[in-house]
Amino acid sequence: MKQLLTLISIALLASCTSNQHRIITEHSKEINSMLSKDEIGILELASMAPSGHNTQPWQVVIKKDGSWIIQVNEKSLLPAVDPHRRECLLSIGAFIQNLIYGAESLGYAADFSFLCTKMTDKNIACITIKESDTTHPEFSEKIMHRRTVKSHHKEKAISVEDINFLKTLVRQEDPEVSFYQSGSQECQYIDGLQILSNIQQVNREDVQKELADWIRWDNKTIYNNRDGLNPDSLELTGIAKWFVQTFYNKNSVLTDSFKTSTMKKIEEMVSKHGGWMIISCQNDDPVSLLKTGMAFERIFLHVRELNIGLHPMTQPLEESPFNSNIKNELDIKGFPQFILRLGYIDDYPEPKSIRKSIDSFIKFE
Ligand SMILES: Cc1cc2nc3c(=O)[nH]c(=O)nc-3n(C[C@H](O)[C@H](O)[C@H](O)COP(=O)(O)O)c2cc1C
Repeated sequence: MKQLLTLISIALLASCTSNQHRIITEHSKEINSMLSKDEIGILELASMAPSGHNTQPWQVVIKKDGSWIIQVNEKSLLPAVDPHRRECLLSIGAFIQNLIYGAESLGYAADFSFLCTKMTDKNIACITIKESDTTHPEFSEKIMHRRTVKSHHKEKAISVEDINFLKTLVRQEDPEVSFYQSGSQECQYIDGLQILSNIQQVNREDVQKELADWIRWDNKTIYNNRDGLNPDSLELTGIAKWFVQTFYNKNSVLTDSFKTSTMKKIEEMVSKHGGWMIISCQNDDPVSLLKTGMAFERIFLHVRELNIGLHPMTQPLEESPFNSNIKNELDIKGFPQFILRLGYIDDYPEPKSIRKSIDSFIKFE
């Protein structure tokens, strides 16, 4: 049974990736000799997690006793937009959630404990994988088909049933989820905050330089790095995609015309959606952030079945004074960690953003 599930999973990975080469399913001799096919499959599924600028800020140390230590990859930090590693820990939370669901999809259970107590700790969590009697094959499909969707959100309000369903994915001890329906006063307030915080951000040179370092414009750079943003994940198509692939480089991000076109896109996006979801946690410590990242990923993995596109728009949380304004104006009790733009989508696009090979983030110790 397990072998069958692994085969199905590998076929799914291959079918989802053949056109876009989203992940690499061939691995080094060391990986193939030290890890089982299932373990490799679980790590590949974990790596499909979302992360700020697609930096994929995780690494995994495989210990001799079989436990896996999840660490921060300090080469993938974003000091300009994420100086306190808040988004890094949220992204690693999403990675851990994918790892747990990935294990469950192949007939295993992942026991985990958090190791970090400070925001700067390198060791984040310890995971052990055990065989289980139950399997959830549907999870690998959800992981492989999840994606950020920024374009073509409809203005139709998100139904109360859909929001209530998404809220059930957040556990009692977890963060709080608030939703502001399109057209509501709160929603208009968040629309405005998005515009103001993005104007502030496009005018910060450190932020634009950091963004320039994480956008891969041409195919060679995209496939050499296998992380960061690219014309596909920026949802450029047709002539616009060809133009940037052919003529853009790092310096293009620092020009006034790039700033102007970014703001035009932001204005278009905030004028069209079904509402804003805010996920906030009770405490502002590393474990709460990891749990918030896990809850966010559970929601993210289930929006597609409701035909809802999900687009994190984090700038108001990255920029002062907007980060404190939002908490006070919307009377949010905890600490807001995600602002998610939601909208119904007619033709749900397939995922495009690519991932590093697991060979590049696994070490044996
Ligand atoms: C903590 C966090 C913050 C993010 N912030 C933004 C954002 O401000 N704007 C945006 O367009 N996408 C944002 N994203 C989405 C990532 O860019 C996206 O997950 C990544 O590029 C991989 O693409 P995928 O989600 O389609 O796999 C964020 C994701 C995470 C986990």
